[in-house]
Amino acid sequence: MMLKDKVVVVTGAARGIGREIALLMARHGALVVVNDYGGSEGGQGSSVAPADEVVGEIKTAGGRAMANYDSVATMAGGQRIVKTAIDAFGRIDVVVNNAGILRDRMIFNMSEEEWDAVIDTHLKGTFAVTRAAAPYMKEQRWGRVINMTSTSGLVGNVGQANYAAAKLGIVGITKVTALDMARYNVTANCISPFAWTRMIGTIPTETDAQKARVEKIKKLSPAHIAPVAAFLASDAAKEITGQVFGVRGKEIMLFGHMRPIMRVHHAEGWTVERLAEMFPGTLQHHMVPLETSGQYFNYDPLV
Ligand SMILES: NC(=O)c1ccc[n+]([C@@H]2O[C@H](COP(=O)([O-])OP(=O)(O)OC[C@H]3O[C@@H](n4cnc5c(N)ncnc54)[C@H](O)[C@@H]3O)[C@@H](O)[C@H]2O)c1
Repeated sequence: MMLKDKVVVVTGAARGIGREIALLMARHGALVVVNDYGGSEGGQGSSVAPADEVVGEIKTAGGRAMANYDSVATMAGGQRIVKTAIDAFGRIDVVVNNAGILRDRMIFNMSEEEWDAVIDTHLKGTFAVTRAAAPYMKEQRWGRVINMTSTSGLVGNVGQANYAAAKLGIVGITKVTALDMARYNVTANCISPFAWTRMIGTIPTETDAQKARVEKIKKLSPAHIAPVAAFLASDAAKEITGQVFGVRGKEIMLFGHMRPIMRVHHAEGWTVERLAEMFPGTLQHHMVPLETSGQYFNYDPLV
């Protein structure tokens, strides 16, 4: 019972990774708000049934849970989600910002609507729920924020400019949440999951590389992600903050962060001509290859 009596909000908890996190946290004694608006993979429609089902599963197993059906994508929604935790269980200890959609399109075809829908759900949604919970966590001097990023942003992926921008933005908000809340014993970390869920089922598989990537992901259960989230939410993880963890089957990884990997100086300063002359023999050797997540993580996962 690593999370006994902790009050947890898991957004997008009706399906996939969020559902597994909600179920495992409840098994560890957490009181769980199961948030999900029950829409399609692309963010259309809504239904209360998916969230209700997960609440039912938790209760059947002897746990405590409450459903919330708001979208994370507005400030009012974020406030109502956190209020559900306060009204039902009296406090808010852990937020897992997991809700997500995909609207993949090449950069030369992506519409404003496709851009906004993905940025609003992932990036604004992470802000909206965190912003609503942070004052309570600050006041009680304890809290955990766990945000979902993606190697589509950390490494890159074709046709996901909106999603990659949101997911790298989430790394930014996570770092600053960790810094802003450090003195209040509140941690904030990212998980970059790999799991076969309906969201991954929407990734276009036109090229051989895309097909190969999706075939590997199909072997990965979302259940692998839940122990890492539950650990980060626990008292045992009090020293862990501002980090990005990858979870791919039975493999857990710690990601590096954006830091200079090579520096060049010139006593007379740089001109365009001097840069053109010296770049190939200096910084160019250290450039990070332009590749997709599937190309980088090209080995078979341990499942
Ligand atoms: N599955 C993967 O391999 C993978 C990889 C990288 C990142 N992620 C991230 O993990 C998270 C979970 O994804 P998943 O694969 O389990 O997808 P999923 O589609 O199975 O689950 C996402 C859930 O979020 C809900 N949701 C969507 N928009 C919402 C909103 N505005 N408000 C409330 N609920 C909303 C959906 O109804 C759905 O139940 C996402 O943030 C996703 O970007 C997943």
